[in-house]
Amino acid sequence: MGSAIRIAVGGGKGGSGKSTVSVNLGVALAQLGMRTVLVDADLGAANLHTMLGVAGHGPTMQDLIDRRIHSLEEASTATRVPRLFLVPGVGAVVGGANPQHAQKLKVLRHVAALDADVVIVDVGAGVSYNALDFFELGDVRLVVTTPQLTSIQNAYAFLKSALHRALPAAGLDEEDRALLARVSHPSSTTERFRVVLDRVATERPALAARIEAILSSFGASLVGNIVPSAQAGNVLHGLSRMTSDFLSLQAKVIAQIPADPAVHQSIDRRAPYLETASPRQPAARAFVSLAEHVLSVNVEAQRAARSLEGIASSLALSIAAPERADDAPSVDGYTRREERVQVDVLAQVDAGGARQDGRLLDLSPHGAFAAVLGPVPPIGAGVTIRVDKPLPLVLVGTVRRSRDGCIGVELAPASVEPCRAFLDRVAPGRPVPR
Ligand SMILES: Nc1ncnc2c1ncn2[C@@H]1O[C@H](COP(=O)(O)OP(=O)(O)OP(=O)(O)O)[C@@H](O)[C@H]1O
Ligand SMILES: [Mg+2]
Repeated sequence: MGSAIRIAVGGGKGGSGKSTVSVNLGVALAQLGMRTVLVDADLGAANLHTMLGVAGHGPTMQDLIDRRIHSLEEASTATRVPRLFLVPGVGAVVGGANPQHAQKLKVLRHVAALDADVVIVDVGAGVSYNALDFFELGDVRLVVTTPQLTSIQNAYAFLKSALHRALPAAGLDEEDRALLARVSHPSSTTERFRVVLDRVATERPALAARIEAILSSFGASLVGNIVPSAQAGNVLHGLSRMTSDFLSLQAKVIAQIPADPAVHQSIDRRAPYLETASPRQPAARAFVSLAEHVLSVNVEAQRAARSLEGIASSLALSIAAPERADDAPSVDGYTRREERVQVDVLAQVDAGGARQDGRLLDLSPHGAFAAVLGPVPPIGAGVTIRVDKPLPLVLVGTVRRSRDGCIGVELAPASVEPCRAFLDRVAPGRPVPR
């Protein structure tokens, strides 16, 4: 995985200024000396290239999806601002807003692997799984909202959806899922997540602890935008309190960007506001101080907190859904002849001398599918997959043809029996749905 600080910018409400904040934060970081890549993940409605005045002829994310390019670096284009680069997104391409699951995973992996000091991802509006999955990529997760009531409501809904989307990262097994379904009612508007956690803690303290770890390393912050006055911005602190009270998530207000006609006009000029603004203007000061705040976050500690609890692979959780049979790799003697069983447990994957966090997705006596966050090991590499929970298991095998974000592993004969024993104990009679 790339070592860049990843900043995800979301917030639900269209027009709250997610793209404006992404672009100007990017300019501020580049001006502070950071090699910064902006990624336009507003699938189907990409417009960062317009805001930056970048001509739209080069490759985009769509070209990666369509295999015309092989890395996002190939789509990364320079902007007029030194050190600021853009990976243009998918515009009005039919189907562009709805990539297949495997395609989305591929893009997520490539974004995570981008080489830069900072990567900023504009996830677009709404609470679609696309937006939430890109949001989850962020070490720092900014929720942009105006002080207007509807925008505040959407920001809250976005955070709530993001939390529920992140929960499977706690490594839920089937009983965990059943327990959560029994004790939580995500559609309720009055339920306090703390109460849900208390109920979980009485039955499954370990699960409650894992969820607490997700909450404490969630990394969300609130950014007020188009704020007409300091007083109007107070409503943001109300949102922060509500998020703490109801979702048990700490999301502080880290910036209040004033409403400024010059920000608005910059869009039509196709030039980021901060490129030419006087540093003394309040909006410019707000963007720069947001950039400084972001750089002060201890990303390493946050990543460590997430991975300690087995959620380093928070990305991989979105891989858990089985994909279409015709997406399956050809792992001989495995996908065709034998029934695969969905196990979906945290795993360590050693291949080619590198160890990565990942998940063991599904398994049959001669083969396995695992998801990794970093580079997919080359076909033919020896691989060892270690699982601690719910039972210790060590599988060795060879990487066979891989699909995006996953590796297909043909198990060595010595692993067949341990694999059978594991399946008998862990997942009797649970074939992968086709
Ligand atoms: N601080 C600001 N002051 C004045 N106008 C602003 C400010 N921030 C954003 N705007 C204006 O608000 C409008 C919406 O901004 P932007 O496109 O960044 O929102 P968005 O959240 O990315 O929207 P979408 O959800 O459609 O992608 C733009 O016209 C922009 O010029
Ligand atoms: Mg936008």
